[in-house]
Amino acid sequence: MPVTLNAEQKMISLMAKDFARKELEPNAAAWEKNQTFPIDAVRKMGGLGLLGMMVPTEYGGSGAGAVSYCLALQEIAYACASTAVTMSVANLSTEPLLKFGSEAQKEKYLSRLASGELLGCFALTEPSAGSDPGSLQLRAEDRGSHYLVNGTKIFITHGGYADVVNLIARTGQDKGNKDLSAFIVEKGFPGFSVGAKEDKMGLRASNTVELIFEDCKIPRENLLGKLGQGFKIAMTALDSGRIGIASQALGIARACMDEAVGYARERRQFGKAISSFQAIQWMIADMATGIEAARLLTLSAARKKDQGVPFTREASMAKLFSSETANRVAYQALQIHGGYGYTKEFKIERLARDARATTIYEGTSEVQRIVIAREVLKV
Ligand code: CAA
Repeated sequence: MPVTLNAEQKMISLMAKDFARKELEPNAAAWEKNQTFPIDAVRKMGGLGLLGMMVPTEYGGSGAGAVSYCLALQEIAYACASTAVTMSVANLSTEPLLKFGSEAQKEKYLSRLASGELLGCFALTEPSAGSDPGSLQLRAEDRGSHYLVNGTKIFITHGGYADVVNLIARTGQDKGNKDLSAFIVEKGFPGFSVGAKEDKMGLRASNTVELIFEDCKIPRENLLGKLGQGFKIAMTALDSGRIGIASQALGIARACMDEAVGYARERRQFGKAISSFQAIQWMIADMATGIEAARLLTLSAARKKDQGVPFTREASMAKLFSSETANRVAYQALQIHGGYGYTKEFKIERLARDARATTIYEGTSEVQRIVIAREVLKV
């Protein structure tokens, strides 16, 4: 299927590129170095419609759709990979509301999330429940007018800045994925607090924290979807999230390749630019080919989502291939830089650290292969 873009998609991509090159790229290195979460830039992205791209206009979103989202997110990631994961998770946080929320919940939260007035996050992972979220332990007990929640979530992207949390909790006695439910938590709810911040290898301008629930009271009306639907809600949200991370990885990969090409043209050894050596050219050829293949897979997954047809398999393929490509490209781009690439003076050092997370979060490469194999074998 040819992947052609319409005028609106091209325009959104250019708008995101313009914003990213002016507002993010000049600051990205300093934000990363100082672990500064760029909250002002994130709010501006809300104003540009970049945080509610799947939210229809009647709920205050831009309704731009998944293809536009994937193009815009690539441009944000090219300039600042940390801000890209913020954008990805903010958009992901609207999905459970869109697909499972009541009309009252949509009215209350969606337009404010889409505009950036509120920042949303997604809380699934726990210390002993990562690839296997069905084993999570955080418990929500039915107390009539409210649910009483106790437990801890970890590795929560921008959890320290989030106003609204999509929380997955255990609401029954089953130990597997049947008795999980989803809730909307506001940061002011009593008993909810933000715990320790992770000191990460990369994406250091993205705030990754622990969320603590100690007798936290969640009003009954904040149950999202039906009781026991939590695992399905989480998986549905992750299908969309994986297109986001595939796009983030693609943006990082493109930035790595551009750094490598620029350096290879400038750097002279043995009396000529190293770009004239076949060893370097082959690495660049492999990078360009991987990036193009990742771009097509990611756009294809996004297009399926826009068409309203199942895209679980395609989202996992895009996430797997793009994130593995980003890491391969980052490795080769750093290799081309030689010793300089191993210093903080050169941008490739940061990009290589940022790329590393993409094969891990929102489902490791191993989890993506489980999803793809199951989808292939079931037909
Ligand atoms: N959409 C809708 N429903 C789905 C689904 C999907 N994509 N995948 C599974 N389900 C449903 C199944 O149909 C099944 O329903 P029934 O019981 O009614 O038949 C139910 O969910 C259970 O499915 P499985 O038996 O396949 O579940 P499993 O326990 O074997 O898990 C898994 C499968 C793919 C490994 C899944 O656990 C998984 O994706 N794990 C990875 C989790 C993950 O990505 N964590 C990332 C954390 S969030 C993060 O990183 C965000 C961030 O901040 C960057």
